[in-house]
Amino acid sequence: MKILAIESSCDETAAAVVEDGRRVLSSIIASQVETHRIYGGVVPEIASRMHVEAISGVTNEALRQAGLGLEDVDALAVTYAPGLIGALLVGVNFAKGMAFAAGKPLLAVHHLRGHVAANYLTHGDLQPPFLSLIVSGGHTHIVEVNSYTSYRVIGRTRDDAAGEALDKTARAMGLPYPGGLHLDQLGKGGAPQAFSFPRPKVADAPYDFSFSGLKTAALVKLKALGLYDAVDAKTKQDFSAAFQFAVADYLCQNTLRAARAGNHQTLALAGGVCANSVLRAEMQRRCKAAGIGLYLPDLAYCGDNAAMIGAQGYYEHQAGRSAGLELNAVASLGIDAAG
Ligand code: KG4
Ligand code: ZN
Repeated sequence: MKILAIESSCDETAAAVVEDGRRVLSSIIASQVETHRIYGGVVPEIASRMHVEAISGVTNEALRQAGLGLEDVDALAVTYAPGLIGALLVGVNFAKGMAFAAGKPLLAVHHLRGHVAANYLTHGDLQPPFLSLIVSGGHTHIVEVNSYTSYRVIGRTRDDAAGEALDKTARAMGLPYPGGLHLDQLGKGGAPQAFSFPRPKVADAPYDFSFSGLKTAALVKLKALGLYDAVDAKTKQDFSAAFQFAVADYLCQNTLRAARAGNHQTLALAGGVCANSVLRAEMQRRCKAAGIGLYLPDLAYCGDNAAMIGAQGYYEHQAGRSAGLELNAVASLGIDAAG
C-alpha cells in the first residue's frame, strides 16, 4: 500500500510517499528555519503563510521522486494534531482536497504517533509492544506503545519540553535557533562534568520531568558567570557539554526507571531531540548495561518529516481508522486520546 503523506504542524512543510508503513519511496522537507531564526523562534503566522506557499511544490516533488502520479497512491495521510493550529490547517485542508479530487481514503495521523513510527522506517524488525521516550521541541513523554495504535502515557514533563529547555538555554548563550542542534555541535569535546545541574523530582510521579527547573538553573548559572555572548570559547564548549549531559542523564534516569518497573525489554526513542549525540550515546551505554534493546531512528527521521506520518498512516489504516472530509485540525491532543 502506497501512502502520500503530508506534515505541516510546525515550521517544516513536508511530503513523502511510503510503502506498507516501512519503505520510504520519497521524502521532501522544506524547512522554514532560516526565516524564523531572525525572530529567535517560530512565528505562527509566518509559518502558516509559508506552508501555503510551499505545500503544492513539496507534494509534487514527493510524487515525482517516487516516480508516481496521484492516481498511483492508495491513500493520503496528514498530521492533524497537535501543533500550531494555522500551520496544521494548511496541511489538513490540502490533503482533504487531494483525497477528494483523487477519490482516495484520508488518514488522520497524530504527530507524536508519527515520531514513534519513524522507528519503523529505520528498523524493519521493530514491532509493539515497546517503551518509547518521545522528546521534541514541544513534548517530552514516556509512553508504553502497546500496539501500533494504542498508547499509555506513563511520564511527561510538567512544564517545558526537553527541546524547549535546550533551545532557550542555547538562545541565552547567543546561539541561533533551533538551539538544540547548535548546542550539540558546540559541546563536542567539552567537559560534561564542568558544571553541575539539578535533576528536579516531581512528587509522587517518578517518571515525570520538570525541564523548566533545569532550564532556570542553567540561566541562573549563565548569568552568575557573566556569560551570555561574551563568554570565552572553552567555557561555552564546556557549558554546552555539561548542560546536554544533564538533560540526557535526566531523560535516561526516568526512562530506565520506567523500563525496569514495567519490565520492558525494548525501548525506542523518538522526536527531534533524539538526534542529540549526547542523548544517543548515553542511552546506548545504559541500555546495553541494563540488557534493554534500544532503537534509534535514522537522523533523517528524528526531526519533523512526512515519511513518519506515512508510516503511522499505514497502521491507522490497518486498524480501520480512516477520516472523513469533516476532519479538522486540533492544536492540543494527547497521543493516547486520539481515536
Ligand atoms: O520533533 P521536532 O523536529 O519538532 C517538534 O515536534 O517539536 O523537534 C524539534 C526540537 C528542537 O527543540 C530542536 O532544538 C531539537 O529538536 N533538536 C535537537 C537536535 N536536533 C534538533 N536537540 C538536541 N540535539 C540535536 N542534535
Ligand atoms: Zn515533531
